[in-house]
Amino acid sequence: MCGIVGYIGSSQAAPLLIDSLKRLEYRGYDSAGISVFNQGVLNTVKCKGRISVLEEKMSSQDLSGLAGIGHTRWATHGEPSDVNSHPHTSPSGRISVVHNGIIENYQALRAYLISKGYTFTSETDTEVIPHLIDYYYKGSITEAVSKAVSKMEGSYALGVLARDEPDKIVAVRKDSPLVIGTSDKGNFLASDVSAFLPYSRLVYYSDDNELAVIRGDSIEFLSAEGDPIPKTPVEITWSVDAAEKGGYEHFMLKEIHEQPKAIRDTMASRIVAGSPVAFESLKLSEDGIKSVEKIFIVACGTAYHAGVVGRTIIEKMTGIPVETDIASEFRYRDPIIPKNALMIVISQSGETADTLAAMREAKRKGASILAITNVVGSSVAREADNVIHTWAGPEIAVASTKAYVTQIIAILAFGLYLAQIRGSMSEEEIESVKGEMLNLPEKAEAVLSQKETLQKFAAQTYNHRDMFYLGRGLDYALAMEGALKLKEISYIHTESYAGGELKHGTIALIESGTVVIALATQESLREKMISNIKEVTTRGANVLGFTINKQGENFSDDGVASVVTATFSIPWTQPLLVPVLAVIPLQLFAYYVAVLRGCDVDKPRNLAKSVTVE
Ligand code: AGP
Repeated sequence: MCGIVGYIGSSQAAPLLIDSLKRLEYRGYDSAGISVFNQGVLNTVKCKGRISVLEEKMSSQDLSGLAGIGHTRWATHGEPSDVNSHPHTSPSGRISVVHNGIIENYQALRAYLISKGYTFTSETDTEVIPHLIDYYYKGSITEAVSKAVSKMEGSYALGVLARDEPDKIVAVRKDSPLVIGTSDKGNFLASDVSAFLPYSRLVYYSDDNELAVIRGDSIEFLSAEGDPIPKTPVEITWSVDAAEKGGYEHFMLKEIHEQPKAIRDTMASRIVAGSPVAFESLKLSEDGIKSVEKIFIVACGTAYHAGVVGRTIIEKMTGIPVETDIASEFRYRDPIIPKNALMIVISQSGETADTLAAMREAKRKGASILAITNVVGSSVAREADNVIHTWAGPEIAVASTKAYVTQIIAILAFGLYLAQIRGSMSEEEIESVKGEMLNLPEKAEAVLSQKETLQKFAAQTYNHRDMFYLGRGLDYALAMEGALKLKEISYIHTESYAGGELKHGTIALIESGTVVIALATQESLREKMISNIKEVTTRGANVLGFTINKQGENFSDDGVASVVTATFSIPWTQPLLVPVLAVIPLQLFAYYVAVLRGCDVDKPRNLAKSVTVE
């Protein structure tokens, strides 16, 4: 996720672009840049680092001009660097582009353009866009953009400046957000309204494949065929702070709702029906994959919980034994690393000190390292032998949500990739899992639409001091994450427990009114979980039960509802995929409880987003 901005009007563009970019830094902040048109030239300044670094670099340059575009980056393809930062410009200097999204067929487009004599300087997917527009430019930037985007696959929101048509900025989107603001001093484009709210509260919302032709005193919308599209602007009444959160009260709630898109983006170009699972950046050889005898998964906190889910996924798909460790424990237990061992380190930030140290210890002992991280160019990404990026976009809330589900998506895809090469799953089995994975974004949306049960149970229980999360198998792994979510934002003491282990001591704590969250979404273990639920309800526990609909049905009649206070049922999906959906109501429940307790949801006490100290 990145932030794009643009301005054209009667004021100097550069200061407005910088101010707008600062309001979008939550969308990405590893590099930034602007292009401004002035007297026949497109002047571009861009660099790695935050916007303050860009401002420093701009101070020695003449960036006067009344039209410009800008970008603040969250790297997906190509690590943060001056050359990979946006705007990207065609070799002729004629076209400058800022982009938010992922161009899935960029490699094919790049090869085609190279065959037509174009040269590239960056590692990004975005750089194909100005080159493609330049290739189609025959005097009309609107037509050239329309032709170029018709060749592009994936997601994009673009701002385009053409040196030979300085009176306009062209903007277009597909699956990435784009808004156009209008004012008496000129017109704006941005990824969201928070960028230009101090200057304009009258906003047009672009729809997919509509071209916006933005002049200083007019805004025109055209269809892909060039036909005018009438649009009515909307007045924005949000505060700037609310706008940064997309209208949600907290970044955590916004990021919970971004999960369907994050899941879709992380699967993009890797999970395609009918095509083999592929990763754009893996350098693992087939022989190397076939020789793997043991896998270690090491991480901290939520990432560790994703790893515990990942152990079951990889063992079921490949038959390779997998060991999971909390990073701070792994590094001090003098781990035995056999030959042909693969270590998977999982880290949203890619900077967690304990995870880095564990990775270095395993590397020292001869393991090959695969990193799963959300930050391109992070320490973990740079030191690992191979990297799979989750494309969740920046995660601002301290409590990790969309990073967790995309980590599991990445592990599912990697497990299928291993199975594909090692022949541990048939093609039909692999296609079946892929097919169901592609249904997850829509099913996640369905889960997000069911909030009442969670809000009601939160209202009944938010003043409790303790809560227990029970589960078996993958539901136990899920219980760990649910318990952490509630604990870290509501400060309620929570404990996740294996359902079958309760009777070996902890059940002594269960008394009348004790709150228990019981996870029974794994069909093969449900009867056992119902017994565990009965063990606690007969001692007076107040139980919220999580279960799963029957395949192809919108209901669940598996006996859980009859033994609990309240039930939440998720849409049916395959057992290995359940955690991706079942974690969402646990995140929402934790959120509602924390809000009811008046906690600082996005910045809980004592916590940091990235723990870079041991
Ligand atoms: C999760 O909600 C917490 N913020 C924390 O446990 C986090 O998952 C952990 O510190 C690991 O961070 P990383 O994924 O950036 O390595």
